[in-house]
Amino acid sequence: MKKKKRSNFSGKLGFVLAAAGSAVGLGNLWRFPYLAAKYGGGIFLLVYLILAVTFGFALMIGEVALGRKTGLSAIGAFKKLNSKYSFIGYLASIVPIIILPYYSVIGGWVVKYFSAFVTGQTTKAAKDHYFETFIGSSLEPIVCLAIFIFITAVVVFLGVEKGIEKVSKLLMPLLVLLTIGIAIYSITLPGALEGLIYYVKPNFKHFSITTVVAAMGQLFYSMSLAMGIMITYGSYMKKEVKLENAVTQIEIFDSAIAFFAGMMIVPAVFVFNGGDADAIKAGPGLMFITLPKVFDSMPFGNFVGALFFILVLFAALTSAISLMETIVSIVQDKLHWGRKKSTIIITLFSLVVALPSSLGFGVWSGITPFGMSFLDFFDFISNSILMPIVAFLTCIFIGYIIKPAAISEEVKLNSAFKRETLFVVMTKYIAPIIILIILISSILSALGIITI
Ligand code: TRP
Repeated sequence: MKKKKRSNFSGKLGFVLAAAGSAVGLGNLWRFPYLAAKYGGGIFLLVYLILAVTFGFALMIGEVALGRKTGLSAIGAFKKLNSKYSFIGYLASIVPIIILPYYSVIGGWVVKYFSAFVTGQTTKAAKDHYFETFIGSSLEPIVCLAIFIFITAVVVFLGVEKGIEKVSKLLMPLLVLLTIGIAIYSITLPGALEGLIYYVKPNFKHFSITTVVAAMGQLFYSMSLAMGIMITYGSYMKKEVKLENAVTQIEIFDSAIAFFAGMMIVPAVFVFNGGDADAIKAGPGLMFITLPKVFDSMPFGNFVGALFFILVLFAALTSAISLMETIVSIVQDKLHWGRKKSTIIITLFSLVVALPSSLGFGVWSGITPFGMSFLDFFDFISNSILMPIVAFLTCIFIGYIIKPAAISEEVKLNSAFKRETLFVVMTKYIAPIIILIILISSILSALGIITI
């Protein structure tokens, strides 16, 4: 991002909204509900919350403070504090490059569903196998993903994110209200109670290390951590803003939206599938399979569905724009290409890399790297491998190289650091050890050496 933009956030609200705009996206609305459903409902929720207030808190404070302290984005920030560690910044920069293509595949699905609802095909979209047939075909999902990437690219190309930011300040609250509204409708459907209980009541029988692995990957993803984004946002933050407060607000906001998104979808799965275990584990398609049925069952479902998907599309676009913007700024800085050239090349690159993720549900479904579909594979590489590595290195960097006091000092510039002890203990001892255990176990399980 351009130098002249530094310190552009008008105050705490500006920072919180911008960071929340990056944080809230498909991660909350699409990814969280299907993971919660798949990994045991209430127990996943509990593990996620515990991780959010410990790990998530420590890591986000650390990243934002790194950014504000140095006034630089990831690569520069690590380099400035200790030039031997600039590789952490580089590693973090790879993550958005992997995420953007498959994010666009899901974005394309949202485009498709929006167009289905807007053209009044609610009942058709609610039919069994509508989703599978759609993603299993070759051309249509690719056209949809191309539309999604193209819109993203136009915004980044023209550099009109500022305008988008203004609009999203208006639309985001609308999305939140709609999500809460649909969630309330969902849990009042006959038969939803069982699903609601599954979603909120922890059942320790469902606990395994996979729950922790999945919850942690989701936490990083949803809060845009471990990929340098929060460092960049921190670099735009004014010194007067109370850092700890701001971080707490982003965490609460992001988790609350994810929670309601789950409440909108998980109980409804029970209603429409009679608690069928396979339906709960539907995976990436969950939102697209269950929600249309909810809309089909409600009065004015066509309208509500169209409104919902356009808002989701908007949330997805703002996140994709910020992902692409991040990659463009890295390419601009490192390769010295102009903005336009960088944008075009990144767009083409993303389009090509997105193809296997899209075709992996159809003609290429026979090719399964490490037993996963291509989309799951890219998701796994970024969320379960790269992000934990970056998070681990960031903890070591803060805990032992620059020392936690350097971060505390930044946080304390204008207010007390209430959870300083938690931050220090997490960063130095607990987080690195747990991240390492999780990382090793997820690598071993992908290689088929252990089953978790
Ligand atoms: N947090 C976003 C979401 O929940 C996804 C995301 C991950 C993201 N990293 C990002 C968005 C970086 C913008 C920038 O959907």
